[in-house]
Amino acid sequence: MTLHASAIPETFLAKWQTTTDVMAGIFDVPAGLIMRVLPEQIEVLVSSHSEGNPYEADEKAKLNTGLYCETVMATRGLLHVPDALEDEDWRCNPDVALNMISYLGVPLLWPDQQVFGTICVLDSKKRNYQQKYVELLWEIKKSIERDFVVIEQQEQLEASNAELRLAMRQQEAFSLKLAQSNQDLHAALMRLTSLQDELLRSEKMAALGAVVAGISHELNTPIGNSLLAASTLQSRTAEFAQEMGRGLTRSRMQEFVGTVEQGAAILMRSLDQAAKLVASFKQVADEQAADGRRRFDLGDAVRSALQGLDQAITDSGHRVLCSIGPGIEMDSYPDQLGQVVAQLIANAVQHAFLPGLAGTVTIAAEPDGAGQVAITVTDDGLGIPQDNLGRVFDPFFTTRMGKGGSGLGLHIVYKLVTTTLHGSVEASSSDGAGACFTVTLPLLAPAPMRKPDRAPPAGPIL
Ligand SMILES: Nc1ncnc2c1ncn2[C@@H]1O[C@H](COP(=O)(O)OP(=O)(O)OP(=O)(O)O)[C@@H](O)[C@H]1O
Ligand SMILES: [Mg+2]
Repeated sequence: MTLHASAIPETFLAKWQTTTDVMAGIFDVPAGLIMRVLPEQIEVLVSSHSEGNPYEADEKAKLNTGLYCETVMATRGLLHVPDALEDEDWRCNPDVALNMISYLGVPLLWPDQQVFGTICVLDSKKRNYQQKYVELLWEIKKSIERDFVVIEQQEQLEASNAELRLAMRQQEAFSLKLAQSNQDLHAALMRLTSLQDELLRSEKMAALGAVVAGISHELNTPIGNSLLAASTLQSRTAEFAQEMGRGLTRSRMQEFVGTVEQGAAILMRSLDQAAKLVASFKQVADEQAADGRRRFDLGDAVRSALQGLDQAITDSGHRVLCSIGPGIEMDSYPDQLGQVVAQLIANAVQHAFLPGLAGTVTIAAEPDGAGQVAITVTDDGLGIPQDNLGRVFDPFFTTRMGKGGSGLGLHIVYKLVTTTLHGSVEASSSDGAGACFTVTLPLLAPAPMRKPDRAPPAGPIL
């Protein structure tokens, strides 16, 4: 027999005490009992407070000793022994030793039909209980068994409460863990951000170093050449001055003029190169004034920019084609637009083609019908490696460092397009299939932000 381990709550024990007391009164017996079976023992759980009752609560007796209750539990039925002394089967049972010779008892069962124990009345006199007493005992039994249901429900409730409490504690622990990992994440993020800052700083420093090196290198060549040309001119002029006193031949004079011309040409070229370099540094560093806004035809503006291209580009032997037809009206900054186109063409000529091979650069334009025009400058040259595509607009990015490239051309393009012209520019290229720069511009450039002409008036002088 498996036993319920449930402890009976005090409230029920008190209630059953009253029941047993009343029962003993009605049956007019010295002992009304509720018995509970334990492993190998049976316990007096509740004993009526009535006179002559030999049983005390908590008293335990061994099983298998022939007690009345054992039979009730084994048969799960009513047992009525009117007088044990007259009954061969009951004469020697242990309760007779306590002078309890009559017995009426029924089994008590848990809701799952396991035996709880018994409820019974015992008397020291012979008792022949009428049917109505038997029925009463069954009713009391049923009432106590209903209490068992409640006890079990309460137990289940308690168990679910405990489960709930456990789940809540687990949830709390989980929340704590979550908060902790959030904190860790936050700390990691902070570390990452400061690392990033550090990286950015050192990248900037490296870039700055490269820039300074680049600028020095670039300026060094024209300035060095200028110096050389100037000092040559100086010494040749001094020699010439000395010779003048002695009289000069015509051929000597012609030679000197040739030297001066050559020197001046070198000086002009070198200083022009230096001036251009300084101008591009300035263009990158300064805020560009948006000057020269007017209405113009895009095709005309591009063609006039082509006419102003450097002689070196015109002489390069590459074809520059403009397929922009008339009729694309713009209200914007034609000079800056021309500068952008010229820069893109110069780049194609300088970077796209292998020496000795003639290439083609095509300029086209496609209005989108919604107030914008996409201008493309495409070449059929070597293309731009994918790794470089994202960096070509960065200032000082050049693949011709030390060979005349400052890496400012496309950055100036980017600045002009995005600020003055209010558009966007992107580069695309697939390996070996040339490069394409797309400049997307509004046909009508937004009005520039007006800067205050004068300083705000000063307050009154007191
Ligand atoms: N059409 C092109 N084909 C291939 N590479 C190009 C092309 N245009 C630009 N590039 C690449 O982009 C880089 C950056 O161009 P950018 O005009 O900014 O500098 P640069 O031409 O090298 O120097 P700078 O213009 O200052 O003389 C170039 O060095 C080159 O590698
Ligand atoms: Mg360039």
